[in-house]
Parts: sequence; structure tokens; C-alpha cells
Amino acid sequence: MRIAFFNTKAYDRRSFEEVNKAFGATIEFLEPRLDRRTTALAQGFEAVCVFVNDTVDEAVLEELSKIGVRLVALRCAGFNNVDLKAAERLGITIVRVPAYSPHAVAEHTVALILALNRKVHRAYTRVRENNFSIDGLLGFDIHGLTAGIVGTGKIGLNVIRIMRGFGCDVLAHDPYPNPEAEALGARYVDKDELFSSSDIISLHCPLTPESHHLIDEIALNKMKDGVMIINTSRGALVDTRAVINGLKKGKIGYLGLDVYEEEGDLFFEDLSDKVMQDDVFARLTTFPNVMVTGHQAFFTRNALEAIARTTLNSITEFQKSGSCLNAVPCKPAS
Ligand code: NAI
Repeated sequence: MRIAFFNTKAYDRRSFEEVNKAFGATIEFLEPRLDRRTTALAQGFEAVCVFVNDTVDEAVLEELSKIGVRLVALRCAGFNNVDLKAAERLGITIVRVPAYSPHAVAEHTVALILALNRKVHRAYTRVRENNFSIDGLLGFDIHGLTAGIVGTGKIGLNVIRIMRGFGCDVLAHDPYPNPEAEALGARYVDKDELFSSSDIISLHCPLTPESHHLIDEIALNKMKDGVMIINTSRGALVDTRAVINGLKKGKIGYLGLDVYEEEGDLFFEDLSDKVMQDDVFARLTTFPNVMVTGHQAFFTRNALEAIARTTLNSITEFQKSGSCLNAVPCKPAS
């Protein structure tokens, strides 16, 4: 099967070329993102491979269908950027990588928690300037605090495991409680109790119409003063303007983000010689108690290898049987 690989970065190419030695697929690595202007680049290919910020809306899918594309392979877990109804109508199969390294994202989540608490980002620059004052770097013991985990799937479970290791009480919220989380010592509560009782709140649920702006002004008002909020899932789980107000009022004590609502225009590109056009993002990065990373939680050697292997496996499976275990269901399972 011929694959048009959109939005290629050097690291994608390296990992896919290495793993493809065992598969022998024909892959055309393309730099542009998939969107309405670039769809024509998929002419002559039966499959396209895309990432989190490529556009797979109705118009793009219609164009892909016209030029003979039958498969869209997402090299990520989330599929909120795909119009699943349009894909179903057009007979295009969508596959994803349901799990490539839940450890990678969980460990990055905890990296943000620790760095924000102990102000590692500020200490690093001070020491490089021979400023050895520790004034202003005061942290707190994580041991004994209450961590609230929203979404207890593969990643959330790993975060629970680590936070229990620190000696935290863990509260969890998920419409589908997971006995494994309870076995790890987490206690399921409703969202309001999680918000009002947690010192650290970490989001590990997908972006859906129900979870959009899960953290908004109303949610923030329920939280403890000085709460730490971490989002390594999807940007739009958090209402960015509401958290900026929360930071200005001191309601939020610490904010760690690996994802951002409007990240599509920013992340994964070197924009260091450009003027920042996103005023909301610019404001976010002025706070000393905010740490933003550019959607890198997944980015470990292990995860890249697993992404390439699972994606090429799915494409081969689809080619052989016309279906695939990792296909995203177009309709919710009944
Ligand atoms: P998963 O599918 O294993 O678990 C998600 C859990 O969220 C499920 O238990 C589900 O029942 C729960 N959930 C669904 N709606 C909810 C709601 N409204 N409130 C609370 N819980 C809800 O997914 P996994 O692998 O743990 O990934 C979680 C999220 O992490 C993904 O949806 C994705 O957005 C994000 N992610 C981010 C990465 C990064 O590099 N920053 C990389 C990979 C995933």
C-alpha cells in the first residue's frame, strides 16, 4: 500500500524508516500538514498518515475520497481532529494508535508537577547566572497531598500509580470507573468533590463535547485556593481565558500544560524568529508559575518506535483484510 505521510518531522522519518525495514511499505514523506490546501498531495496514494494537528474534516475527507484514499492512519491516540461521521459516509477507514506509551505521558505529567513545585525552571536559569539565592524557590512536600485524576484510562492509571508512590491520597473521576484504579488506592468521587478536595488536579480524559472546557470559571470556583492544574491531554479541556483569570487572582497556584486550545498554529514548529500573534498564549507564558511544553509528553524513543510499529501493522492488516483492530469506531459502541 502506498502511504502519503503528512506533517513529517525528522524524528518521524527516522522512526518510520527504521521500523519499515520489516514491513517494506512505500512511504512518501511530505512536510506539509494535511488540510484543504494540501489534500491533492495524496493523489495516487491509498492511505494517508497524519498527526494530532492535521485537519481531517468533512471537506478534506471528501477530497481524499475523490482521489481514491481509503485509509487515514492517525499516528496518535486522540481522534478529535477527525470528522468520523463523514469518514463513515465516505467509506474511509480511520485507524489510530490506541496506546504507544502511557508511561511516557504519565511521566511527563509528573515532570511538570515536580518542576512547577520546586521551580526547577527558575532555579536552572539562576544557577547559570551564578545566582545561588534560593529565595522564591520554596516548594512543598507532595507526600500527604490529595491528587485528583480526571480520566482513569491507560495514562490516568499510570499517574495514579506514581502519585500513590509519592504517598498522595488519590481521588478519581471517570464515567467508567476502573477497578484497577481502586486496587491502586484511588477513590472515585464526583467531579465537584474532586475539584473541591484536590491539591493537584491532572486531566487524562479525551476531548469530547462533554469534556470541552471541563476546567472553566465555574469549575475553578469550586477548587482550593492555590490549586495545581496539569493538562497533558487536549488543550480544549481547559478554558484558557478562565485559567488566566484564575492565575491573576491567585486561585490557581501552578499551571502545567503540554497542550493548548489553539496549539495548531504554534506547536511542533520553530517560530523563534517570528512575532507571537496569539495574545492569550503570550499572556500565559508571562506567569512565573506556569510551565508550558509543546505537546511533547508522548515524545520518548519507546513511544516513537511503538507508534511506527502499530501504524505500519494496522496499514498491513487493512491491506490484507479490509478491516483493522485499531479502527476508530465511527458510531459509539452500543
Ligand atoms: P484512554 O482511552 O485509555 O482513557 C481515557 C479515559 O477517560 C477513559 O477511562 C474514559 O472513560 C475517560 N473519560 C472519557 N470522558 C471523560 C470525562 N468527560 N470525564 C472523565 N473521564 C472521562 O486514554 P489514554 O490513553 O489514557 O489517554 C488520555 C488522553 O491523553 C487522550 O485522550 C489524549 O487526549 C491524551 N494524550 C496526550 C498525549 C500527549 O503527548 N500530550 C499523548 C497521548 C494521549
